[in-house]
Amino acid sequence: MTILPKEKTNISVDSLETISNTDLADLCYNTEQAIKAGGGFGWITVPPREVLKKYWNGMLLVNTNTLIVGRLNGDIAGSLQLYFYPPNNEAQKTIAKIQSHFVVPWARGYGLAKTMIDYAIVKSKENNKQSIQLDIRETQTAAIKLFESKGFIKWGENPAYAFVNGNSIKGYYYYKNI
Ligand SMILES: CC(C)(COP(=O)(O)OP(=O)(O)OC[C@H]1O[C@@H](n2cnc3c(N)ncnc32)[C@H](O)[C@@H]1OP(=O)(O)O)[C@@H](O)C(=O)NCCC(=O)NCCS
Repeated sequence: MTILPKEKTNISVDSLETISNTDLADLCYNTEQAIKAGGGFGWITVPPREVLKKYWNGMLLVNTNTLIVGRLNGDIAGSLQLYFYPPNNEAQKTIAKIQSHFVVPWARGYGLAKTMIDYAIVKSKENNKQSIQLDIRETQTAAIKLFESKGFIKWGENPAYAFVNGNSIKGYYYYKNI
């Protein structure tokens, strides 16, 4: 793994409406890395590439989700899904949810995750959201530190949030009013 000096890195964030073949390959590779690192979009084992391609292509068809990507020197190195409730849910129409936020191990520590959260907050405000919510496994300590440093408040815990190899993992719930 090559470690890039910070002055040689260019960070950018955008949201995808279509996926180029290069971006799709990056997203699939990143997902495989996320699964191997134990925080992989719900997967515990790496599925075949075709399944991952369908997942990402399908994501763009879901109109409740905005796919935000973080780039390091132009390559997608992380992503965040921003969920808005469908129009029938009037009671929660001003709430946004952050889901499946991930940065590949080689691109960590450059501020990419923070920049994607800032972008998600801007997009949420532009869409008249008043609160952002998310949930995290207790084992994701870097993410917990990150969201708390961004002013997200923990309001609850679920002792049986996920099960991996038969063992239950606690989950934490956060919100931030914007
Ligand atoms: C959490 C994660 C997204 C951070 O990505 P990143 O691009 O390295 O984060 P940033 O460089 O933007 O760091 C932002 C802040 O996160 C926190 N942080 C990041 N990595 C950390 C670590 N290893 N230990 C403790 N805090 C950490 C710090 O508060 C840091 O701020 P600082 O640099 O001012 O100290 C990344 O580690 C990851 O993908 N982890 C696995 C998946 C996951 O947990 N996703 C969240 C699910 S909601």
